[in-house]
Amino acid sequence: MQDQDLRSLSRRGALIGTGLAAWISRPARAEDPESAPPQAGDHLVFLTGSKKGQTIRSDDLPAGGPQMQAYPADPNGTVRNGSRLNLVIVAHIGDDGVSDETRAHMADGVVAYSGICSHQACPVSMWSNDRHAFVCSCHGSVYDPRNGAEVLAGPAPRHLAALPLKSENGLLTIAAGFVGRVGMQTS
Ligand code: FES
Repeated sequence: MQDQDLRSLSRRGALIGTGLAAWISRPARAEDPESAPPQAGDHLVFLTGSKKGQTIRSDDLPAGGPQMQAYPADPNGTVRNGSRLNLVIVAHIGDDGVSDETRAHMADGVVAYSGICSHQACPVSMWSNDRHAFVCSCHGSVYDPRNGAEVLAGPAPRHLAALPLKSENGLLTIAAGFVGRVGMQTS
C-alpha cells in the first residue's frame, strides 16, 4: 500500500471511526452469553462469505492470508455477536518468521486477533499483499500478524489483542480470552 493510498484512507476513515467509537464504547453485558467476551472452549464462526455462520477449521482459511472476520461461539452454538468488541480476525500465516510470542498463541499456522483497531475502533478488514499484514481501512494502520500484531505503520497506538488458539483435529478452538486491550480500551 502506497503513502497516497494511506492518506486517502485517512480522510475516508475519520468520520467512520468517530461513529464507531461511540458504538463500541458501550459496555458489554457480561451476563449475556451473546455479549460475553470469547472464552476458552469457544470455537469461531465466519462472519461473511459463502461459509457465513459455519465453524472455522484451519484448512478453511487461505494459506498466506488474507484474514477472515469471525465471531466466537460457545459450545452450545450461541454466537457471541452482541458486542463488536468480540469481532475477531483469523489468518493462516504459517510458521515462517513468526515470533515466539505469536507461535505460543497460534494453532495449525493460524493466528487470531481482535478485529477492532486500537486507534479509533474501526474493523481491521483489509490486507496488504506487499507487507503480508493487516490494514485498517479507516486511517491506514498496518499490523504485523507474525509479531503479535505490532503496529508497522499508521496512527494506531498499540498492537491488536491476541486471541490464543488450539486445534482439535483441525477445528480451531479458543484456548484463552483476549491477551491485551481490545480496541480503544484504556485498561
Ligand atoms: S481506526 Fe484509525 S487506523 Fe484504524
